[in-house]
Amino acid sequence: MKKIIIRGGYKLHGSINISGSKNASLPILAATLLFEETVILENVPMVKDILTMINLLETLGKKIIVKKNQVTILNTNKKKYFAKYDLVKTMRAGILVLGPLLAKFEKAKVSLPGGCAIGARPVDIHLDFLKKNGFKNEIKKGYVISSRQNNKKNINYTFSKISVGATETAILNSCLSNNKTKINNIALEPEVIDLISFLKKAGAKINFNKKRSLTIQGVKNLKGIKYKIMPDRIEAGTYLVAAAITNSVLTINNIVPKHLENILKVLMKFGVQFKINKKNDLKISPKIRKPINVTTAPYPGFPTDMQAQIMSLLVLTKGTSNIKEDIFENRFLHVSELNRMGANIKIENNKAKIIGTNVLSGAEVMATDLRASVCLVLAGLVARGETIINRVYHLERGYENLVKKLKKCGAKIKIINA
Ligand code: UD1
Repeated sequence: MKKIIIRGGYKLHGSINISGSKNASLPILAATLLFEETVILENVPMVKDILTMINLLETLGKKIIVKKNQVTILNTNKKKYFAKYDLVKTMRAGILVLGPLLAKFEKAKVSLPGGCAIGARPVDIHLDFLKKNGFKNEIKKGYVISSRQNNKKNINYTFSKISVGATETAILNSCLSNNKTKINNIALEPEVIDLISFLKKAGAKINFNKKRSLTIQGVKNLKGIKYKIMPDRIEAGTYLVAAAITNSVLTINNIVPKHLENILKVLMKFGVQFKINKKNDLKISPKIRKPINVTTAPYPGFPTDMQAQIMSLLVLTKGTSNIKEDIFENRFLHVSELNRMGANIKIENNKAKIIGTNVLSGAEVMATDLRASVCLVLAGLVARGETIINRVYHLERGYENLVKKLKKCGAKIKIINA
């Protein structure tokens, strides 16, 4: 079992290059199921979830060549529409192959992703859209088995709740067809927009209407293209917090400033200053520390994927801060581990009250999910003594070269095989 060991109390310096976005790469990789021609994706982060998706696409008949961060997806004659439990169980995004498989073959059998540490995370909204789009869905032995029931023309669908994954399923299911599909109350996360940009470059006809609504005019096929994945805004946000928590001046390279506005707004209230140059490198300099109140919300609101990281920052901020988690019902699993390091956090339903303390002490802690794990790394950077983080595989699902990147900036961090 791998462990991360951190000796806290060292400032960071220099610069960190941001990798390509995991959450943009996953639906774009799933989208390649719609293509006959070859697709080349650049800037794909080589993290565990991506390798799982690549594996899944191979079992569905694609041939895939990986060269550093470039992934080439070729067609073969093998056409499969069965996504096994083994591959989908570790990664909820596995469900994203359902929409494109149905668009291409009109039938599919995909394992349900199952429970997850941060909440029930059902797929009911994905399935409700597919039903509206003419597919019959049955749940049998942990699988969703779907097939075309009728050909619906010109659908106008409104999501009952904003969901990133369900919006992606709807888009992936609708761009190869003879129909016009209008989808309302969609998620506008930059990763959804990146999927749309990719599909449009390949010939899909997708147009935004008013706010949170788009129309897709189906096309017969998509043409093979080369596409560069957007930078990972959550990875960038995580390193911004790393700078703030260690009181360090750090440069974060290769960002899209617009994507970080919601995170920077919160960090500015907390007391950081930053400058962005013409090359889109962001230099952050922490100044003062003020307690703040944060509520997670769909984009352009504050991302739930940054909630744990911002909490580790507030733990060491004098005064009382409050965090309200409005996306997932059980996303405070990191709290008990932070409290074991000396934090004073109280939970009531979806609200966390953080009473600032002066010092954290290193401890042996356990990662519970991807973002919870990274918040323990951040706390470890400033805790007195040694922090040992177990269950490192959670981090490896989503952060490319985390230990290497932090070490290069002066953190005393290593990964060991124990
Ligand atoms: C994606 C991100 C994840 C992020 C989340 C919210 C990927 C691979 N993952 O996850 O990192 O935290 O968006 O920004 O992109 N819901 C239902 N029924 C459904 C679908 C969702 O009730 O069918 C609920 C969820 O339980 C949750 C909320 O809707 O409470 C939002 O979830 P959603 O936006 O779908 O998250 P994911 O796409 O799974």
